[in-house]
Amino acid sequence: MFNLVIFGPPGSGKGTQSEKIIEKYGLTHLSTGDILRSEIQSGSALGKKASELISKGELVPDEMVQEMVKTVVHKNIQAKGFIFDGFPRTRAQAVYLDDMLGKRNVKVNLMLALTVEENELKERLLNRGKLSGRADDQNETIIANRIKVYNEQTEPVMDYYEKQGKLYKVEGSGAIDIVFEWICLVIDKLKQG
Ligand code: AP5
Repeated sequence: MFNLVIFGPPGSGKGTQSEKIIEKYGLTHLSTGDILRSEIQSGSALGKKASELISKGELVPDEMVQEMVKTVVHKNIQAKGFIFDGFPRTRAQAVYLDDMLGKRNVKVNLMLALTVEENELKERLLNRGKLSGRADDQNETIIANRIKVYNEQTEPVMDYYEKQGKLYKVEGSGAIDIVFEWICLVIDKLKQG
């Protein structure tokens, strides 16, 4: 099993690059943001709680996302590997993921961290907000809070993987296909050992 964490601030291209990675490498996509949005759409109790937090740009509680991730991994245990998109977002989530995979004798093989300058992130998210209808893309205050929450609570997760020798940073501000080429170089090198 080859498990990859795609990481980076809001708007850095995690979802965009995930689609391309999945197409090329056949991994199973696990996006906690997508799962939460489908819970919101279904009107579930979990979705209602998540909606309040997401629309302010805050994180939902660790236990809630951890449970969702465990369910998806359990259901797809035959997968060639997972691409974790938007998870882990706190150190506690990273520890949880290691424990959960460890119990199945597998591990995170690689963290790919996309780096994009803050003004570009804001511009991308505001542009998408004009079309997407995503509550958290709708105004500058919410977007600024998402970036603040990322800087304070999520960015430290990089250190966790760096200490394990699994962190690779990729410049995420070029054209989508160029960013993807860099990502492929990293994945292919790692897979060849
Ligand atoms: P989530 O859905 O994970 O949102 P996010 O991290 O804010 O990321 P985005 O989807 O906005 O951006 P992205 O990096 O995927 O970029 P994308 O490819 O879409 O989470 C949403 C919320 O759910 C969180 O705020 C939190 O509340 C909650 N949540 C989720 N997971 C959680 C967890 N584990 N713990 C707690 N709470 C959690 O691209 C963005 C835009 O840029 C697109 O329009 C795209 O076309 C464009 N673009 C992409 N790449 C390029 C490029 N190279 N050049 C130009 N434009 C580009």
